[in-house]
Parts: sequence; C-alpha cells; structure tokens
Amino acid sequence: MKIVITCKLPEELLKSIKEKFEVVMSEVENGPMPREQLLQEITDAEGLFTNVADKIDKELFEKAKQLKVISTMAVGYDNIDLEEARKRNILVGHTPGVLTEATADLTFALLMATGRRVVEAANVIKEDAWKSWGPFFLTGQEVYGKTIGIIGMGRIGLGVAKRAKGFSMEILYHNRSRNEEAENEVGAIYKEFEELLQQSDYVVLLAPSTPETYHMFSTEQFKMMKSTAVFINTSRGSNVDEKALYEALKAKEIWAAGLDVFEVEPISSEHPLLQLENVTALPHIGSAAIETRVAMARLAFKNLVNGLEGRALVHQVK
Ligand code: DGY
Repeated sequence: MKIVITCKLPEELLKSIKEKFEVVMSEVENGPMPREQLLQEITDAEGLFTNVADKIDKELFEKAKQLKVISTMAVGYDNIDLEEARKRNILVGHTPGVLTEATADLTFALLMATGRRVVEAANVIKEDAWKSWGPFFLTGQEVYGKTIGIIGMGRIGLGVAKRAKGFSMEILYHNRSRNEEAENEVGAIYKEFEELLQQSDYVVLLAPSTPETYHMFSTEQFKMMKSTAVFINTSRGSNVDEKALYEALKAKEIWAAGLDVFEVEPISSEHPLLQLENVTALPHIGSAAIETRVAMARLAFKNLVNGLEGRALVHQVK
C-alpha cells in the first residue's frame, strides 16, 4: 500500500512505516508538498499523512480513488472537507491530547509577551533605539492578579487556566457547555460571552473553527471589551474578522493583540495588522515544541497504520 506524507519528517520516525508501506514524502524543508505533486501522488495512494498546511478539498478527493485513511498531524481538522471524506467512507484521524501542554505554554507565553510588550522591547534594543530608562518607556499591562477570559474551555483552555491560576488570575470562561473540571480544579467561573468580554483584562480565544465560530470576534465584540484589554488568538484565524480587529487596535478600542493564527497563512508581512505596534504575531507555532511534534507525528502514524490495517484509529474524527 502507498502512503503520501505531505511534510518532510526525520528518518527515524519513518523506519517501521517504510518496512510496511511504499512511502512518498515531501522533500520541502518545513513546508508542504507542492500542490501539483500532491494531486498527482494521491491518485494511487491508500493513506495520506497531512497537517494544517494542506487543503484536503473536493479537488483532491476526486483524484484520490484509492484513499482509505487521512491522518492529520494536528488536533484541528478544518482544512479537511469532512463531508467529502464521509461520502467516500474515508476515515479521518487527528492528534488531540499530545499537544495540550505545549499549546497552553505558548498561549500563556504570547499572553505575557503581548501584555508586557516583550517582542517590541527586544526589537528596540536590536534597532539601537534604547536611549535611556524612562518612567513610562515600554510600559505594558500587568498579568499577575488580573482577570482572564477563556473562550473554549477544552483541554488547552484548561491548560491555560492552570497556568493563569499560578499567576493568581481570576478565571472566567465561556464554552458550549459547562466544564466542571475547570470549575473544580481552578475555580473557573462560567460567563455568557458578552459578560466575559466586558469583564476580562485578557481575552483568550481557543475555540475550534466551525461554521458557528466563523468571525465570532468582529466589530461588536471588540467594542464590548475594555480599552485596556489584551486579545490572544491561538485557535484559528477564521474565528476572527481581521479587518474589525485592525480597526479596534488602531482606534485603541482594545489595547493589544497577540496572534499565532491568521485568516490566510502564511500571512504577508504587508498585512495591515503587522504594521501595528500593538500586535505581537507568531507563525502558527502553538504546538511547536520538539517532544510535542514527535508525539504528534507518532500518534498520526498510529492512526494511519491502524486504519489501513483494519483496526480502530486511536483518535478518529467523527
Ligand atoms: C493543531 O494541532 O490544530 C495546531 O493548530 C497545529 O499544531
């Protein structure tokens, strides 16, 4: 059986896979397999190992006549047309759990960096713009003891809440359903969406990308937030109306934003958001810790092999 792997992985992760399957892997360092190559290679492949950088859409499904299992090295699967997969009885696997702590670490790091202007301050030194100590030079927002509002209290949300508890923050959350674990473990308080926006100093977006969450943050939501609020998004870019965010930041309706995800990735350096001083931007690195990426790749292979060999996937997207 043939497997297509759309990213270049270290050889040691492939040993046992190569013993069992014919493997075609991308040769692009830290980037996706070129689309043309993917569309050609997929025609006779039974397995596809993918990630958030690929679009697994109708065009691909129409060419993938032999495809049985898609395994994404990610928790999110909004890049995969699940309806097309279902129509063709193609199984889809993903990797929840193993990236929880790394993503929560990065989310909290981005929160602190944005609140305290860490990246901007580091650039001041590199650009030789540090002239003297000043009483309000590069002053930011305190983190310790402030109120954090988490939208999307799943595994990663709880991970962020645990870190926030260590900083004595008041923890508010909004979710489709109440999360008793978060309420009992860290004292998180459930709020309606609007209330959370009005009361939080740090608003952290961790909701998955679904038709319901598309642009859930737009002009109206930013207007409800405090003028000192810091907005953090480590979920998906499509959850935020970037034009509205730009307007809110420029008009100082909110104080700053820390973004790890964008509506179009990679974002162009000319994008209006990246021209603003009060934006701290990262290139979708939420889960980018070495141990985590190895665990994600191993789990994605397990899903793929299980599916191709007729066993249940460890984590199947329903
Ligand atoms: C995911 O897993 O969905 C992240 O966005 C990539 O690690």
